[in-house]
Amino acid sequence: MRATAQAQPNIALIKYWGKRNVVLNLPAVDSLSVTLDALWTRTSVMFDERLQRDEFFLNEQVRPAMLSRVSQCLDSLPGWTGSRPFARVDSVCNFPVAAGLASSASAFAALVVAACSAAGVELEQLSQARLAGRASGSAARSLYGGFVELTAGDEFIDLHQLAEPSDWPLSVVVAVTETGPKAVGSGEAMQRSAETSPFYQNWLDKQGGDLDIARRAVADRDFASLAAIAEHNCLKMHSVMWASRPPLVYWNSVTMACMETIRRLQAIGHSVFFTIDAGPQLKAVCLPESEGAVIEALAATPGVRQIMTGGLGAGAHLMDSA
Ligand code: PMV
Repeated sequence: MRATAQAQPNIALIKYWGKRNVVLNLPAVDSLSVTLDALWTRTSVMFDERLQRDEFFLNEQVRPAMLSRVSQCLDSLPGWTGSRPFARVDSVCNFPVAAGLASSASAFAALVVAACSAAGVELEQLSQARLAGRASGSAARSLYGGFVELTAGDEFIDLHQLAEPSDWPLSVVVAVTETGPKAVGSGEAMQRSAETSPFYQNWLDKQGGDLDIARRAVADRDFASLAAIAEHNCLKMHSVMWASRPPLVYWNSVTMACMETIRRLQAIGHSVFFTIDAGPQLKAVCLPESEGAVIEALAATPGVRQIMTGGLGAGAHLMDSA
């Protein structure tokens, strides 16, 4: 009745922004991501008939604000007859949470894998990914390693691994510019964009074309092509956000300074591009030979608080169960 799983966050290169079905949490657009190896969430789930309620601890602290999403995710496991036993969930995360570093992706991917094992529910990877995706759209992608494509349907999502981490070993350097939680969560922000941004429809219309280019770039290991489409797609998503009412601006001045740092590195021939999610952190994706220069340049950018770096990693997996 107790199991522990690990999952790593993933970074979307072609972004998910907007939902086609809020109740089922189905994305409005397809997306393409890379799963990381150095950042992780490790989650233990123990179902216990003696508990009076679910309990959730993050880094050994009680986190009541996050409990309802955790409980809902446990409720969504198939096979419960009548009421389920309550669970104690212990999560440890080695990077800042709710700060635009995809902590919800690794959190729900690890939770689903651990909870299925603790509950004795045998589910294939895709079904686990769909459960994680109901809790957090991007979490579905963290069930898979390397390069992952998520296809959004009207009833469910599909996922495909496009390449293994070792097929194209890229490096990801994260520049942390602020560690506090974001002001507006991604779910609320996506709804605001869908309802108010004049660019939202165009975002939906053009996503398929962006994805085709990115998929081909991954197949051909064409870094320049992937860099161009990933930066374009990221800036387009942020344009949708900026034009929402009230506006959604997740960047700070250090985020902008980091973008300039990447431009400077590109100008002197480094193979690197940036992407930014619903938070002020900048993620630089580069070829391994440029990793040292990228780390050095981002660390020297005034205002950068922390650098985290690593390669591409595996999907969520069980660590132990008893
Ligand atoms: O999975 P959510 O609800 O945290 O939304 C993720 C949205 C972005 O990170 C901005 C883009 C993405 O595809 O991961």
